[in-house]
Amino acid sequence: QTKYLKDYKKPAYAIKTVDLTFELFEEETIVTNSMQITKADTNEKDLKLDAVSLELLEVSLNGLKLQESRYIIEEENLTIINVPTEFEIKIKNKIYPQNNTELEGLYKSGDIFCTQNEPEGFRSITPYLDRPDIMSVFTTTVVADKKKYPILLSNGNKIKCHESFDERHGVTWHDPHPKPSYLFALVAGDLGSISDEFVTMSGNKIVLNIYCDLGNENKCHHAMRSLKEAMKWDEKKYGREYDLEIYNIVAVDSFNMGAMENKGLNIFNSAYVLADMDTATDANFMGIESVIAHEYFHNWTGNRITCRDWFQLTLKEGLTVFRDQCFSADMNSAEVQRIEDVKALRERQFVEDASPTRHPIQPESYISMNNFYTATVYEKGAEVIRMVHTFLGEKKYAKATDLYFETFDGQAVTTDDFLWAMSKGGDINLEAFKTWYHQSGTPRLKVEESFANGTYKLSLTQIIPDTLEDRKQKPYYYPLKMGLLDEEGKEVLVKTLIVSKEHETFVFENFETKPVLSINRDFSAPIIIEQKKSEYDFLMQYDTNSFTQYEATQNFALQTINKLISSDEIDKAFVQAYGYLLDLDVDLSYKALLLELPSVSAIMQLQEKIDFDVIYTAQDKLLKIIAQKFKNKLLDIYKKNHFPASMSLDAEYIAKRAIKNRVLKILFALKSDEVAQLAQKQYEESLTMTDRIVALDVLENLHVNYAEVALQDFYNKYKDETLVMNKYFAILASSSRYDVLERVEKLQRDKVYDEKVPNLVRSLVGSFARNHKYFHAKDGSGYKFLADKIIAIDKINPQMASGLCGAFKVCNKMNNHNQNLMKKELSRVISTQGLSKNSFEIIDKILK
Ligand code: ARG
Ligand code: ZN
Repeated sequence: QTKYLKDYKKPAYAIKTVDLTFELFEEETIVTNSMQITKADTNEKDLKLDAVSLELLEVSLNGLKLQESRYIIEEENLTIINVPTEFEIKIKNKIYPQNNTELEGLYKSGDIFCTQNEPEGFRSITPYLDRPDIMSVFTTTVVADKKKYPILLSNGNKIKCHESFDERHGVTWHDPHPKPSYLFALVAGDLGSISDEFVTMSGNKIVLNIYCDLGNENKCHHAMRSLKEAMKWDEKKYGREYDLEIYNIVAVDSFNMGAMENKGLNIFNSAYVLADMDTATDANFMGIESVIAHEYFHNWTGNRITCRDWFQLTLKEGLTVFRDQCFSADMNSAEVQRIEDVKALRERQFVEDASPTRHPIQPESYISMNNFYTATVYEKGAEVIRMVHTFLGEKKYAKATDLYFETFDGQAVTTDDFLWAMSKGGDINLEAFKTWYHQSGTPRLKVEESFANGTYKLSLTQIIPDTLEDRKQKPYYYPLKMGLLDEEGKEVLVKTLIVSKEHETFVFENFETKPVLSINRDFSAPIIIEQKKSEYDFLMQYDTNSFTQYEATQNFALQTINKLISSDEIDKAFVQAYGYLLDLDVDLSYKALLLELPSVSAIMQLQEKIDFDVIYTAQDKLLKIIAQKFKNKLLDIYKKNHFPASMSLDAEYIAKRAIKNRVLKILFALKSDEVAQLAQKQYEESLTMTDRIVALDVLENLHVNYAEVALQDFYNKYKDETLVMNKYFAILASSSRYDVLERVEKLQRDKVYDEKVPNLVRSLVGSFARNHKYFHAKDGSGYKFLADKIIAIDKINPQMASGLCGAFKVCNKMNNHNQNLMKKELSRVISTQGLSKNSFEIIDKILK
């Protein structure tokens, strides 16, 4: 069942062209598939196609219908015996998209037919060599009822419309660019749309369309703006131009992931397309901008140059995430973007990297490839590309990526091919860097300083975690940006060290007094710094690097919380330094991040054995001390930025909302009537979803009576807006109210909730699983609830179920009591009859 990277073999066949016809009906779909095939390896006799749950109607070879003795049907394959060197295979088969709840292959989202084929969905549409190194030219005809499905889409350019006298019609699409089957897409439905155009740098006019449910057209404008910005950016930064006459995006409500970069026909989770001021938060707008760009950037990093096999996934994902992060940094505040990206990395990837499901960005084996669309492959993968960028610098990096595009355009390649281009174009040896692709776990760096006679010594020791099987791993090679400040806070040295050995010492001379170290600036390497003592309060005041200034604040706060946990004593120096931050005159969205205290996840990562009760207590205590001590200042900041109310999306107003809402969440700790009134007023007068959601969340967690009123009001207003209802479910499932589980159970029966829609499951069940206080309840009720959900959802949608299994990843780090409860539930799930390989793979790793 397990697939290994080392077993990779070149394909024995090539598919030159593929012609597909889809006849869509209400009960079933008939697929006709004609492939022009050439044998590449003449020793090969039979053609073994991938085919999952397909009803075969007819198979013919070079126009002659094949008798059943000429082919073998197995669970996951269709094998045609004894094929010639060049031939045409034509297959007719039947599928049932209406019953497809796994949302993989061809399925229905509401009334819309759509597809999701990455990584291996295509084999459940029609028999094929469903692997990314088989690249072919696709021509697709879609035929359906004219009234129900006026819009018929597939990849490439529209080449023909077929009208007929009955109620059906058809459209033929042709994609001239050879592509793997995972990039195939089809959409049929009665859709609304908005259109625009983009003229590329060489003067080609491209038609841009965004399709959505009828009535949502006016929520597509931000996505369209983002698309045009992304197209411009990729031309300017990477010299990459779009290559078809048309670019289509379709928003659907039922989608397993964020979005999919199908050639010329991106399909999106509607959460990453639809937005207006009444229904979307500032964070939603940012998220749309980044995902739209991400999928667009895949056209070159993913589609034109794709992966040889799925072990190379980070080749396209790591690189494309790096590209979308840089795009967002250019579009918004670069300093805020960097901090947000690192925060996300630590919350998700660091936790994964410390768990039994950890894996290198290039894994060696998998049972279900769907389980490897992870924070490690994506976000750590992006950090790895960022380090290459740091080594090369902007100019050489541009030269190297040009070389990459020139050399490998139209091919399916490996991460080694990418690194070849980087080292050749960048004129640098990256051999030692490759460990980043093959090792797992977050590297640590122990930092020790000494100072004597004007000489400052920095001694660095790499601490490399062992593999899951307790094998030793090698030291890493990475850029470490640093700065030294003198006692007045003036920067006296800026340098990028290259760390390569297990242990090394760097010496800096001619100082009058011991300088203050600012290390891993910009988070130049995705590592954990271990340092006994550090001048955090000094760095909070004087560090000129916005990332390490933020970092100093976080570290100081974490240290303070740790002390609170063991001794109940507050570090006054921290409180004082925090007061200094309140007065800082910096960009307000950056300031909102500086003022944020460490998350539960961040505190948890410092504990040998996790105890959430202790974490919550200490966190509450610190928040309360801060809120009490600085109450007036905080209220001032709140008022100054709350008025005048505005729904502008300009950076200035986004920043005002960010700081004001940060302050409100800190004031929350006072749990006073005054704060409740502030939140109530904010809810009632809010012009934006950003303000409304924060106010609602604060009210809910203050446990005041008005919370019920506001929640009811919110529900009534938005019950028909499924994207807004996700927020509603998330607030209730994340609540600190004692009866949260009871309410979650009840909400499952709400008429808005639907267990088949991943967004809704993620916002209700997923949010509860992240509600540490109640998910980890000592009576085991949280675990039991989630285990039951996993068993039920696994039968509907295995990908969604295995996603929920992730909440159990912390199992081995929990105290014995919770660990035993978790294991009991996991054993129950894994012994369920017919459990999917997706859920099996995750749980099996945790239980081992
Ligand atoms: N390639 C898509 C993206 O990153 C994600 C596809 C995820 N598919 C999956 N089966 N997990 O934009
Ligand atoms: Zn991607």
